[in-house]
This record gives sequence, structure tokens and C-alpha cells, in this order.
Amino acid sequence: MNSFDIRTKIYFGDNALDRLTDLPYKKALIITDPFVAKSGMLQMITYRLNDGYTEFEVFSDVVPDPPVEKISIGVKKMLEYAPDCVIAIGGGSAIDSAKSIREFATRASKKETALIAIPTTSGTGSEVTSFAVVSDPSNDIKYPLVSDSMLPTEAILDADLVKSVPANVTADTGMDVLTHAIEAYVSINNNEFSAALAEKAIEICGTFLLRSYLDNNDTHARKKMHVASCLAGLAFNSASLGLNHGIAHAVGAKFHIPHGRANAMLLPHIIEYNSGINKHSKSRKDYPKCVEKYVNVAKLLGVNNFNEITTVRALTSWIQFMLKEMNVPMSVSQCGVDRTEYFNAIDSMAEKAISDACTATNPRVPTKPEVVQILEHLYE
Ligand SMILES: [Fe+2]
Repeated sequence: MNSFDIRTKIYFGDNALDRLTDLPYKKALIITDPFVAKSGMLQMITYRLNDGYTEFEVFSDVVPDPPVEKISIGVKKMLEYAPDCVIAIGGGSAIDSAKSIREFATRASKKETALIAIPTTSGTGSEVTSFAVVSDPSNDIKYPLVSDSMLPTEAILDADLVKSVPANVTADTGMDVLTHAIEAYVSINNNEFSAALAEKAIEICGTFLLRSYLDNNDTHARKKMHVASCLAGLAFNSASLGLNHGIAHAVGAKFHIPHGRANAMLLPHIIEYNSGINKHSKSRKDYPKCVEKYVNVAKLLGVNNFNEITTVRALTSWIQFMLKEMNVPMSVSQCGVDRTEYFNAIDSMAEKAISDACTATNPRVPTKPEVVQILEHLYE
């Protein structure tokens, strides 16, 4: 038996933030990062809370790749303030921090608290997922926490908040969206509902990712990518992810490469690995099942060719073209990582990637030597 539901109520479109003037909550803890706290974005939230007579306090200690220590400081703050609502505003780190803080504070206080997630980047989809990634810097590990109790109560998608995102962040986070959608689409847990969501997210990425990278003022493209991020989040919340994210977590934790960028660099390698199709492939009949899915992905992106091999190869070429157009590094060496340090870390990164929770739903079960080989290829 399988089931599918969307528990998070999604507010989107023009003036979606106005939802904050009409909250059924009286006391909110805003969780964000120092950049958002100092920018005009926080005021876009707080003046609406004032209009709706919701009192609030701000916890702005969120850092990228939220470490366990910061989460425990946030839990203490939440237990002291005792809000009836947590408002997370920021990128994946802010929303993941808020989810984790609310989760642990709820367990300690036994008091239910609503969570409203307001993304300021179009990437993680964290506003609609039961996943949160926290890190243990002393062991170079990123832990995906997964629990339905971490699902936000509401998500507010207002593209006014992504207007000033720098181009390189648009590229990294946009490639994260595409990776979420593709991994959910080929996951062994995929289903018709997750596939429908992933297909729409892929189609939007094909049309609007490059546009939103090239022109900061292309509001239409940014609105579309903001929705695509959420659609892809819903897709992987149901179908989970795969080896791409498993390796990206390991490489990101060790070398602090932005999450979306690590995924972007890996994507062509993982498609080649999962499909078994590379530049030496000859036509054959016994393709792995995921090949058909990758062919569909290619078609949704407007990349079609005359047989399965050429279409999957055209898909990896399209992804490499996108990386070049958006100045995303194609390899770990281009990220400035020292060669010896990287190769010394490959063995432990491969082990962490295989035991990462995301890897369990990859369409091909990876062995350690195979992951080592992918990591070696990823350097150059
Ligand atoms: Fe991701």
C-alpha cells in the first residue's frame, strides 16, 4: 500500500506574503540568518505581523550547513520564548534550522507549534519537505533528518523575496531544483503523483532557469523557478532522492562546496552511471529501467534524439551546456580544492555517500569502488 498527501498549505503568487497579516497565531519566533535580518526582507515580514497584531522575536543566528550546536541554541531560545508559531525565512539552512529547532523544542516541551516556511531562494524545496539537513563539522558529516513531524504547516512562495538573489546563487539553487526533480523521477520510490510534480518542475527548469540566471529583472522567470522549487520539493518528499544527493552531501560536508553546485557537477556523472550510457555505448535492448525515465526527462527539456543512447547522451550534454552558460564549475578542481587533499578523502567520502539516507532510493545500487570512480572523475 502506498499513500500520497500534501500537508503543507501553500500560499503563492503576487502578494502571497499578505498571508502574514491574517495569521491565527499570536506569538511568533522568526528564525533566519544575519543576512536576511539586516536586509529589507525581514521588514517585509515584520510589518505584516505588526498589521496582524502578531507579536514576534527574531533568532538570527542561522549559519550555512547548520551545525548541531546552533540548533541547540535555537531550541533554548524557543523554549524560553514559547511561541505558538515559528516563521522560517531564508534559504535551505534557515528553513532546515527552524524545522530542527521546532522538532526538538516540541519534544522537550510537548507543546505543538505551527511552522511557516518562507523561502528566499528557489532551490531546496525545504518549505514542503519532511527533510532537514544538519551538520556535524567535527566529523565532516551532514545528517539528513527525516520525519513527517518536521513538515511545515504553511509555505509562502513570494517571488518578491528572490528578486535580489545573485546570479551564481540562482544557478546553484536552480540546478538543485533540477537535480531534485530528476532524482525523484528515477527513484525506486517514484509514483504517479511524484512523477507528475517532477515532470512539471523539470519542464519549468528547461524554460526558465537560464532566463532567471541571465536577467535579474525577469520576474516572470523567477516566479516560475520559485514554484518549480516547491514542486520538486513535493516530488522528492514523496519519492526521495538518490546517489547524486548522497555524494553531494559527502563532498559538501568535507570541502564546503555549495550544495546546489555539488549536485550540479555530479548530475552528468550520475546519469551516466545510472543509465550505463556513455560516449562508448552501442545500441542495445537491455537498458536499465531508468533509461526510459531519462529519455522522458530529455524530452521535457526539449532535448530529443533518434534513439535511447543518443537521447540520454544529449541530456548529459544539455546539463553540461547549462553549467557552462551559468558559469557553474564542472569539476571539483575548478572549485579550487587541493588535489592531494581531495584524493586522500575519497575513500571516506565514498563510505559516507553509500550510507547516506538519500542513496537508498537510487535506481542502481552503488558499490564502493563505483562511487570511488565517480568521485575520481568528479575531480577533473
Ligand atoms: Fe538538494
